[in-house]
Amino acid sequence: MRQCRQCAAPAAIHMRQHRLAFCAAHFPAWVVKQTSRTIRSHRMFGHSERVLVAVSGGKDSLALWDVLLELGYQADGLYIDLGIDAGDAYSATSRHKAAAFAAARPDTRLIIVDIAACYGETLAEVARRKRDIQRPCAICGLIKRHEMNRVTLEEGYPVLATGHNLDDEAATLLGNVLYWQSGYLRRQWPVLPADETGLARKVKPFHRFYERETAAYALIRGIDYIHAECPHAVGASSIAHKQTLNQMEHAKPGTKMQFYINFLRAKKEGLFVPFEDEQITLNTCAQCGQSTTAEARCTFCRLWEV
Ligand code: AMP
Ligand code: FES
Ligand code: ZN
Ligand code: ZN
Repeated sequence: MRQCRQCAAPAAIHMRQHRLAFCAAHFPAWVVKQTSRTIRSHRMFGHSERVLVAVSGGKDSLALWDVLLELGYQADGLYIDLGIDAGDAYSATSRHKAAAFAAARPDTRLIIVDIAACYGETLAEVARRKRDIQRPCAICGLIKRHEMNRVTLEEGYPVLATGHNLDDEAATLLGNVLYWQSGYLRRQWPVLPADETGLARKVKPFHRFYERETAAYALIRGIDYIHAECPHAVGASSIAHKQTLNQMEHAKPGTKMQFYINFLRAKKEGLFVPFEDEQITLNTCAQCGQSTTAEARCTFCRLWEV
């Protein structure tokens, strides 16, 4: 039986990639400390800055919100209700989890954006109307990114934090490498600075944690979260990439971490330097004002054209 590094009690979690084990009493403190280190080493934000946490109702983002509050940050939440309901009331349930988390913490507030109320259609409805969109997931990321950026700027938050963990980032990296998506590879990083084109600063303070670690944190801290995956994500390549990486991790513990963390190191050392000839011209969307590579209106605004 493994023992806690801190107190020698039987371990509740063993992290083979770190050769580290903790009991249920000491694991949350380790997560909080590691997150604090990550925030400082990447200069994500300071204590005087208000942070907006994008919460999906899942374990990662609610655990992140919890950790930031534990660390004394002024962290509020943003939930984007896409109206997803494949007979499972997915959005309603996840919205309820986020709202319950916020209600139990009176010093914070949760901003809810209801896509159907704001734009007239749910994610599934707009995806069905647009013939060139094969499945809702194809535009879900686009809608979430646009709305996260909009609300962060409109509500005056200097930074937006998402709950992406190492499993998410490693799966994204695998997808980007498989298809040699050089643009995405150049941009993949735990901190994206704000820029003059109207992009808010975005950070991923959980990018060094395995998914099982954020799940263990949420469980030990008694955070109630939605366990189900988005019903539209069934069969998504990101899920297949996660499974592949988990098989490799099983065969050789630490593989997932090496793959992603060494990518970050290699980038720091100069891999994927900006391509000199790359000149992306950004325009301002005539409707919403966000930056876009499109000529007049951005892809998000064109979604709602009838
Ligand atoms: P996903 O894209 O579902 O893997 O989620 C990655 C991160 O995006 C989560 O950890 C959240 O921080 C954020 N996120 C996902 N869905 C939502 C949502 N509906 N509303 C707000 N934030 C979200
Ligand atoms: Fe995008 Fe579900 S529709 S993850
Ligand atoms: Zn202990
Ligand atoms: Zn627009």
